[in-house]
Amino acid sequence: MEGDKSSSSFHTSETAQEKGLSYVLKCDKISSSNRPSLYPDIAHVPIIDLAGLGKDPASRSTVVNDIRNTCRSNGFFHIINHGIDQSTLDGALSLASKFFKLPREEKMKLMSNDVKKPVRYGTSIKDGEDNAQFWRVFLKLYAHPLKNWVELWPNNPTDYREKLGKYAVEVRKLAMEIMEAITESLGLGTKYISNKMEDGIQALAVNGYPPCPNPELALGIPPHSDYSCITIVLQSSPGLEVMDPRDGSWRLVPEAKGILQVHVGDQVEVLSNGLYKGVFHRATLNSERFRISIASLHGLAMDEKIESAKELVDEEHPKGYKGSSFTDFLNFISGNDIGDGKHFMNTLKIN
Ligand code: OGA
Ligand code: NI
Repeated sequence: MEGDKSSSSFHTSETAQEKGLSYVLKCDKISSSNRPSLYPDIAHVPIIDLAGLGKDPASRSTVVNDIRNTCRSNGFFHIINHGIDQSTLDGALSLASKFFKLPREEKMKLMSNDVKKPVRYGTSIKDGEDNAQFWRVFLKLYAHPLKNWVELWPNNPTDYREKLGKYAVEVRKLAMEIMEAITESLGLGTKYISNKMEDGIQALAVNGYPPCPNPELALGIPPHSDYSCITIVLQSSPGLEVMDPRDGSWRLVPEAKGILQVHVGDQVEVLSNGLYKGVFHRATLNSERFRISIASLHGLAMDEKIESAKELVDEEHPKGYKGSSFTDFLNFISGNDIGDGKHFMNTLKIN
């Protein structure tokens, strides 16, 4: 049985995801050409062993070379020996999950469709506003510097701030190390962006994807690239898919305990003048498990514009992007549906 309610006849406080409906509403259905496969091909994800970064110059240069190769060809990789304990990863996923299981009234205190709110709970992307709706609940949390924001985070469950905060601080440290290696791999040195990122943003997208009765008809998040320098994703079970830019096909990112996934974001695409591309990705659903993912986005400060490095612009490689800031991005998404295929990056490309 499928529901025929139109999107205007219900609102946030009673969305399908939260009600656990046994069918997919019309407004949640993805157009047939964009529907996910229930049996997707598995992505080949390069593994970068970060242990070498802190060792002798030769070991570091091997890792930096690996990062250059994978950023040029894929824009995503798994990291091992990243230094974050399994207990910290498990703690973050467990508290993320506990929050989503709270009674609706509790979560509604943080509910907002204002994309500029530093802490907001929501479903879909802008629930009840966007034309296309997605099978997701989420909590967006600004996280850097932690002391400025943590008071705004939920304190129910009582150890939410502690467990998510610990993960946020550790994953940011990691993001800074990886960004140093990325700018080094572009020939720009280690401090090119990391200095600016000291005052940059970190936003955690804590995502929950309830079991979906018809996972082949809906998506958790539509195809997009992240407006970050890099994003680090921790997931409780598979569901994240990446697009192969060569043929537009989607591949499922395999999940393995303790592994973190790194995505090149739009800001690195602009910085590198297109040498490294932001990864197109989406979240798919399943009918059995409540899946959790925590995407930690790391970028420049809110109003700081990212520009292509002048060292990477010349006659042969003309500047390919307009400068932009996180604020510009938020203004764009507050007025456009990313589910309708509106991509901020397309507005930045010069020819
Ligand atoms: C995101 C995102 C992927 C996932 O939050 O930006 O892409 O698997 N999440 O939830
Ligand atoms: Ni994303």
